[in-house]
Amino acid sequence: MSFVEVRDLWQSYGGRAILERVNLSVAEGEFISIVGASGCGKSTFLRLLLAEEQPTRGTISVAGAPPAVEPNRARGVVFQRYSVFPHLSVRDNIIAAESFGTRTGWLWGARRRAACRRADDLLARIGLDHVAGHYPAALSGGMQQRLAIGQALTARPRILLLDEPFGALDPGTRTQMHDFLTELRAEAPMTVFMVTHDLAEGFKLGDRVLVFDKPRWDPHDPNAYGATITYDFDAINRGIPYHHLREEKHDPIDAHA
Ligand SMILES: Nc1ncnc2c1ncn2[C@@H]1O[C@H](COP(=O)(O)OP(=O)(O)OP(=O)(O)O)[C@@H](O)[C@H]1O
Ligand SMILES: [Mg+2]
Repeated sequence: MSFVEVRDLWQSYGGRAILERVNLSVAEGEFISIVGASGCGKSTFLRLLLAEEQPTRGTISVAGAPPAVEPNRARGVVFQRYSVFPHLSVRDNIIAAESFGTRTGWLWGARRRAACRRADDLLARIGLDHVAGHYPAALSGGMQQRLAIGQALTARPRILLLDEPFGALDPGTRTQMHDFLTELRAEAPMTVFMVTHDLAEGFKLGDRVLVFDKPRWDPHDPNAYGATITYDFDAINRGIPYHHLREEKHDPIDAHA
């Protein structure tokens, strides 16, 4: 049984189809990159994985149960640039993320000092150690985004959802964050879903690259059909469509249906 199982998922808003017939099996620890045209429903798919909304049709299961709604380590987390706490220093933002989903509360004494050391270590790895005592408002956009990614990785969730996480970063910082994410995954396995508009980034980081697209199109009614997974590439054995390697086969989608 796979870790994340999506069965015949459909999502519509007010009769407008966004996603249709999405089927997916993901093993624990896999890194799934998601690409697709703007507006095709990638962020919607992440929200469904988070149980932030319910699908119109179909089911999602995570470790055999519906996705968790309450915060816990098994619940997916998605951190974005503006998920940093403005009233906490950079260091305290990382410490707060460490106890995400637990009831640890504020730390004192030796535990706080140990947490500070871990936070400073992480800040050094993402190049923010020199601003550990600053408030987020004093950071540039790219630095705030790095802090948010640092928080997400500190929380070490079982499922990490990243929605265009590296979009605002310059190429050097982007590569640094890629390396950091790869190192962390080697230390503690996480199942990752990452939406990106950068195909090369998707193939570099992902084990699989999913393409969301509309296989059916009615020129008289552009809202009639939704997007689905049209390609599932094995990014490790580059270029070989993953579904050709799978034993389990889903029904091929009839483009002229
Ligand atoms: N709650 C909602 N109510 C109505 N329409 C919505 C809702 N959420 C998303 N949509 C619509 O669903 C479509 C898909 O949106 P979504 O944000 O998932 O796309 P996306 O693939 O993430 O696009 P982008 O690459 O631009 O981020 C869009 O047309 C959007 O307007
Ligand atoms: Mg989006």
